[in-house]
Amino acid sequence: MNAVFTEKLVKKYGNTVAVNGLDLKIEQGELYSLLGVNGAGKSTTIKILSALVRPDGGKAEIFGKDVVKNAAEVKGMLNVSPQESAVAANLTVWENLAFIAQIYGFSKAQAKEKAEKTIEEFSLEEVRNKRAKTLSGGYARRLSIAMALISEPKLLFLDEPTLGLDVIARSALWKIIEGLKGKMTILLTTHYMEEAEELSDRIGVMVKGSLAAEGTARELTEKCFAKDFTEAFIKISQGDFCEKKAAFAEKESE
Ligand SMILES: Nc1ncnc2c1ncn2[C@@H]1O[C@H](COP(=O)(O)OP(=O)(O)OP(=O)(O)O)[C@@H](O)[C@H]1O
Ligand SMILES: [Mg+2]
Repeated sequence: MNAVFTEKLVKKYGNTVAVNGLDLKIEQGELYSLLGVNGAGKSTTIKILSALVRPDGGKAEIFGKDVVKNAAEVKGMLNVSPQESAVAANLTVWENLAFIAQIYGFSKAQAKEKAEKTIEEFSLEEVRNKRAKTLSGGYARRLSIAMALISEPKLLFLDEPTLGLDVIARSALWKIIEGLKGKMTILLTTHYMEEAEELSDRIGVMVKGSLAAEGTARELTEKCFAKDFTEAFIKISQGDFCEKKAAFAEKESE
């Protein structure tokens, strides 16, 4: 069974087709990066998969459960970060963690324990008594991911987790994400090519609402005859479907 499965998935906003016949399969335990230029449809896909937005066509399943018919069950298996609304601005880091743990049904004592453990795991010791609204961007992202993990999800969506972070904060977050690999299925979106290269098992490039290419960074770079993955990504995003070209080149050389 796939962690994520979509077939001919469609979502329209008026005349805009945000998701346009998307076929996506993510295996259990995989870290999959969904890339694409602004407006390609990544966040809309994540919203459909999180059962927050209803698709207009096709189907989407999370661990075999339909996101429309089994929305409650689907929501129970996954979590999303950053989800700014989930962070209470006036509560401290520790309070946010303990609070969210109680929301997920942990007792007061268990919630305290969870908050302590999470603070240690995410190196939040330094800011444990700071109110969320006073945190720097890097710590705020870290808290957001930590909160998403309190529910112990089988599937985690990270929508641009390192947007705007400095190199040190970013590499700290990469370490955290690397530590989560294999423990759960992760779907990540990012505009940083080196982030996708560093973290992903597989990468999918979305162009205008559907998947234009898929593979490891290396495979995509080779298929596109590109000097690096950034160049491959640009070629794919500009509609230069390298896979077909690669097949043609193979035939030529036979
Ligand atoms: N609530 C909405 N109402 C109207 N149009 C929307 C809405 N949400 C998204 N769209 C449109 O759907 C398309 C896909 O948007 P989406 O946010 O999924 O892209 P994205 O790949 O996440 O982009 P970015 O990299 O900028 O985050 C865009 O054209 C966007 O303007
Ligand atoms: Mg987006």
